[in-house]
Amino acid sequence: MEVRLAKTAGFCFGVRRAVDTVYGQIEKEKGPIYTYGPIVHNEMVVQELEKKGVRVLNSLEELKKLTGGTVIIRAHGVGKEIYDLLERQGVNLVDATCPFVKKIHRIAQKEEANGRRILIIGNAKHPEVEGIRGWCKAPSYVVESPEEAENLRIPAGEKLCIVSQTTFNYNKFEDIVEIISKKGYDIIVLNTICSATEERQTEAREIAADVDAMIVIGGRHSSNTQKLFEICKKECENTYYIQSLDDLDLKTSQSIRCVGITAGASTPNKIIEEVQKHVRIKF
Ligand code: F3S
Repeated sequence: MEVRLAKTAGFCFGVRRAVDTVYGQIEKEKGPIYTYGPIVHNEMVVQELEKKGVRVLNSLEELKKLTGGTVIIRAHGVGKEIYDLLERQGVNLVDATCPFVKKIHRIAQKEEANGRRILIIGNAKHPEVEGIRGWCKAPSYVVESPEEAENLRIPAGEKLCIVSQTTFNYNKFEDIVEIISKKGYDIIVLNTICSATEERQTEAREIAADVDAMIVIGGRHSSNTQKLFEICKKECENTYYIQSLDDLDLKTSQSIRCVGITAGASTPNKIIEEVQKHVRIKF
């Protein structure tokens, strides 16, 4: 049986870097280690880290109570006020913000200094967008849909710098930018979408179109895994959605000669490897 494992399966560069940062700190640090929010949306990873003494802090209130130790900032990044708060409290901050997100923070600061108001195309409730807004001194705008773009009104004379949440859909970004462009405002547009998600989806589509069965690994509630599953199912009727090896019930028959495997952005390598090995050995 041939197995085709997607090169882009699992963690993207930024998430892998953040998880590696936590493991690096465990080796190095003697004092307590915290992450601000779960380092990745995968319970197994978080539980494994908990066993090694890493605690997840979920609220600003919890951060405010700290008097020492190390807080690791995850790939989504946070606003400037968190850096300032931890510095005041004498807490060691280890920054695992994805460099692509950090770049947006720098753009926000620079363009504000150039007299532009920041407009983010993305979801206002997403931690990455909240983090970007936290680097703007003046109130920023967030637009998530073409309807919101149609309804956007900015004061006369205001200049805009438009950026995007890194995981935003490119076509939707283009549509929104087009609507805002037609309003005649003074704007500059910086496409800050990260290609990791799209590359993962493109590769999954290509593999699924070419195999007899396709396995998609990821959490049930992971929206990017659900999307991967939909894409693969369209190309390959015989597509399986599993969280771990335990869920795999691959019905083999003579006709299955090639199996494809991909995984959502928060699936650790260990699970992908397990599934891959199992399929290779068993079939
Ligand atoms: Fe991942 Fe960073 Fe892109 S966290 S999705 S590589 S912006």
